[in-house]
Amino acid sequence: MQESSANAMTSLGQEELIHFAARYQQLMLLYEGGIKQITTKLDILNREHRVRGMRTPIETVKSRLKTPKSIAEKLARRGIDLSIDSIVENLNDVAGVRVICPYISDIYSVRDMLLSQADVRLYQEKDYIKNPKPNGYRSLHLVVEVPVYLSDSRQMVRVEIQIRTIAMDFWASLEHEIHYKTDVEEIPEGVVQELSQCADIIAQTDSRMEAIAVRLHQVAPERGTVLDL
Ligand code: GTP
Ligand code: MG
Repeated sequence: MQESSANAMTSLGQEELIHFAARYQQLMLLYEGGIKQITTKLDILNREHRVRGMRTPIETVKSRLKTPKSIAEKLARRGIDLSIDSIVENLNDVAGVRVICPYISDIYSVRDMLLSQADVRLYQEKDYIKNPKPNGYRSLHLVVEVPVYLSDSRQMVRVEIQIRTIAMDFWASLEHEIHYKTDVEEIPEGVVQELSQCADIIAQTDSRMEAIAVRLHQVAPERGTVLDL
């Protein structure tokens, strides 16, 4: 009884639901288009390197569309009403692409190559490599806007691109697992410190591996990233 009245409070009328679902589907189609635009550009860059006999700067590309549950929860967390317009205005990561590179300098090469393209507009950049998060998280985050063409219009679509090394991805994946899978309410302070120390060791290893690559002429010295560690 209680449950059905709660449902009635939040449920949409049939017409409204159908209308919302149709607009939601159209919006997700745009975000999927944005993901395809970026992943195609990345694929072409890698293939071009291969064809020219150069080392490829990208190891793996992953992408995901944010789920309806995740979208609703994020807006609710920020106290924002759920609507098509509020998704577009407030969420930059509905379309997400993760680029995993062998070396730190590859991250900045990929960034520069993408941003030099005329139809890629930089909306936001956060460099968690130069400024790691207190927990040790490192990656370069870009939010870009790319055009997606429909039958009668051109829509600019935001795509969040996370660019990181294999080593940074290793840390971020396990740290994410620990936060998600753990039954403990609060991660103990000691564990947070330990994770941050692991991230520092990984960052040093990344730098050393890059120095080796520079010595062996795999990475150009001017591109080699020297980090203050
Ligand atoms: P979100 O609300 O989570 O999107 O945060 P934000 O808008 O402040 O953006 P931020 O650039 O901090 O983080 C965006 C995304 O980066 C997250 O959704 C994660 O995928 C990733 N990320 C950020 N911080 C961490 C972290 O400490 N650990 C891991 N594993 N991933 C992180
Ligand atoms: Mg996010």
